[in-house]
This record gives sequence, C-alpha cells and structure tokens, in this order.
Amino acid sequence: MKINTNNVSLKISAGKISQLIHAPIPQIVFSGRSNVGKSSLINSLLNRKDLARVSSEPGKTITINFYNVDEKIYLVDLPGYGYAKRTNSDKMIWSNLVNGFFTQNENIDLVKLVIQLVDSRIGYTNDDLDMISFLNETDLPYIIVATKVDKLNKTQREESVTKLISNKILKQGTPIVLFSSQTKEGKDDIWREIFNHTDK
Ligand code: GTP
Ligand code: MG
Repeated sequence: MKINTNNVSLKISAGKISQLIHAPIPQIVFSGRSNVGKSSLINSLLNRKDLARVSSEPGKTITINFYNVDEKIYLVDLPGYGYAKRTNSDKMIWSNLVNGFFTQNENIDLVKLVIQLVDSRIGYTNDDLDMISFLNETDLPYIIVATKVDKLNKTQREESVTKLISNKILKQGTPIVLFSSQTKEGKDDIWREIFNHTDK
C-alpha cells in the first residue's frame, strides 16, 4: 500500500457507540493503560508532535479518537485503562465504550489489527492481562508493543522482552515490537505490521 502518512485529514472523537466510524476503511486500534504511550506512538507514526494529545492529565476524557490517514487507514486511539484516580462512574463509561467498540460495533470487521501497548519497564499489569484475554476472546489479530524502551539498558531490554514473550496468555506467534517515541526505534516495524494486516 502506498500511503502518505503526512496526510492526516480528520479526527473524530467518539464518546458513544453511535458515533463509531462506518466508512469502509481498515482500522488499526491502539489499546493500553493510561500513560503507556498510545498517543505518543500515534504521533510518531504520523510524524507529528501533538496531533494525538499527549496527556499531562491521564484518563481525562473518555473518547475513542479516529485519525484518518490519507483516506486509507484509520488509526484508532482507545481511551486508556488503569488510571488510579478514575471514579467508578468513569470506569463504567470506559468499559461501556470499549466493550461496545469490540462487541456492539457493526463495523468490527474493519478492525484489521489491535496494537496492544505494554510499558517495557513494568511488564503486564493485571489490567493488561485482562485486556489481552479479552482480545483473545474477540479473535482479532494483535501484536504487543513494548513502550519507553529508551529508559532501559541492554540487559533490562532483554529481561523485559523475555518476560513479555514468555507469558502464556499470548496467542502463539504474537509479535512483540520494542518501541520508543524518543528515538523512534520500532516505528518502521510497526508500520510493517500495519501494512501486513491491511494489504489485501
Ligand atoms: P492516555 O491518553 O492517558 O491513555 O495516555 P497515553 O497512553 O496516550 O500516553 P501518552 O502518549 O500521553 O504518554 C504518557 C507519558 O509518557 C507522556 O509524558 C509521554 O511523554 C511519555 N512517553 C510516551 N512514550 C514514551 C517513550 O517512548 N519514552 C519515554 N521516555 N517517554 C514516553
Ligand atoms: Mg492518549
């Protein structure tokens, strides 16, 4: 696929299921806990600094944000989970919206790949494991992206990958990509995974 990643033509923030996108364009979904680096990854993929809001106040707005890239792909930024200060009612809004996206979405077949982000320094949190087991149930293809690897030395990187890859929760053969929004390491690999799942 030839795609101009600098041509990001629109952004839609969906706060309810009725606002999800119907256009017949493949969607790539970014999932992970609040603060893991979803918006930073989307900005890196699109060569932007501040297209997707990098939050100083995590978990503030609960919307699913769609970025239309060159009319060919939507990058879909799910609201983060696991934000400690979130109220119970906000947790309910989060789970209704995210559950709805996966289970009441008429256009779920447009989702070609889920990119599940995990903080390379922390490894899987309980919420990450819940999310991955939910993804296993949906049968959607996913990859793991380990974020913030610029903060690890060589030994720590190896330990982190070994720990992430050996967890039995992953479907067999699930790729793991190391990523840093600081150095852009891993960016090309992530685009390659996206194209692998969207090129027909
Ligand atoms: P929510 O929108 O709250 O769900 O968070 P998010 O997953 O979109 O995280 P965001 O991209 O806003 O990043 C959170 C914080 O981590 C910001 O301060 C970023 O600058 C920082 N950060 C993100 N990616 C990296 C990375 O690769 N390396 C380092 N060192 N910091 C990063
Ligand atoms: Mg964000």
